[in-house]
Amino acid sequence: MTTKKLLRVLRGERFDVPPLWMMRQAGRHLPEYRELRARANGFLDFCYSPSLAAEATLQPIRRYGMDGAILFADILLILDAMGRKVAFVEGEGPKVEPNTTASDVERVPLAQMLDRLTPVYETVERVRSALPTETTLIGFAGAPWTVAVYAIEGRGGTDKKQARLKAYSDPAGVDALLDRIAEATAHYLARQVDAGADALMLFDSWAEGLSPQAFERLVIRPTLLIRDRLKYLGVATPLIGFPRGSGGMLRAYVDATQVDAVGLDTAIPPEWAHAHLPPKFPVQGNLDPLQLIAGGEDLDDAVRRILAAFKDRPHIFNLGHGVHPETPIAHVSRVVDLVRGA
Ligand code: CP3
Repeated sequence: MTTKKLLRVLRGERFDVPPLWMMRQAGRHLPEYRELRARANGFLDFCYSPSLAAEATLQPIRRYGMDGAILFADILLILDAMGRKVAFVEGEGPKVEPNTTASDVERVPLAQMLDRLTPVYETVERVRSALPTETTLIGFAGAPWTVAVYAIEGRGGTDKKQARLKAYSDPAGVDALLDRIAEATAHYLARQVDAGADALMLFDSWAEGLSPQAFERLVIRPTLLIRDRLKYLGVATPLIGFPRGSGGMLRAYVDATQVDAVGLDTAIPPEWAHAHLPPKFPVQGNLDPLQLIAGGEDLDDAVRRILAAFKDRPHIFNLGHGVHPETPIAHVSRVVDLVRGA
């Protein structure tokens, strides 16, 4: 039996004190990250430098003793490896060469694409050997729809009008793009597991606002493709799905994708999730990262409410989305203490 508490929760165990980590725990809210970041020639170079990326992965583990370490990388690396231009512009968010089609991403053979991501596997190896044995190492990728939004629109965070409309007006083209991304993603995740990842997470950050039918086609179907392909590749590592903005489709997502756990976004009432998901199904979430910035009594209350709602099921304490750069370190520490009952 593993001593990795987070991994045990993903396999269905429940603990009075749940394991915790935070999405985007490595990043600009940490002064030690900002110092490290200044040493790289841009963000892509940072992600492709195993010594820097491994150090960034470990920083929040050292500072907070989180139960989970998330690989330091980005969901857009796969598009870079597929030969699309990707740029991280300071203060503007990432930019990707837009109007990407399936034939664009098929130009780079799968084996070559996977090899371009070798520095990421090396980061995983380095982190693996430096992590405390009780810490779970989480590998990840963007889910096909979220990656496709960037590939089609050139950016994320919008209302996704262009990508959603294209999914209706060119269904065969968008499905082919999703299939290709899904295939590449499964192999990429399998390589992370080979390098030492204990668990995997799929970020579907732009899954919000889809009709139920579109959600099935653009979110559920490609996620299931990845699940099936991972099985075919012999990967039994637990997979956490994060369908941000799934709303009323949450249960359908859980039932149909066969993920092992689900990350809940900030809009999902914890009590509702507990009532609507299968009894022993593991959940992760879902504190509002803005509440984490504000702090105070309301933060304490929100943490206690989440803990209470999930006390009878396997639960990994986390946020409902990523840590923001302006988050005070003291507030993160406060949440760690509260969750651990200190
Ligand atoms: O602790 C961690 O989670 C580190 C690893 C990580 C990063 N990005 C590092 C990063 C992970 C898991 C991601 C995933 C990611 N990247 C997602 C899914 C999660 C989510 O937030 O919804 C998305 C949508 C992206 C695309 C992306 N990359 C965005 C929107 C941004 C932020 C733009 C900004 O300036 O805030 C990035 C850049 C990025 N990825 C940063 C970090 C630490 C900031 C870059 C910097 O240091 O300058």
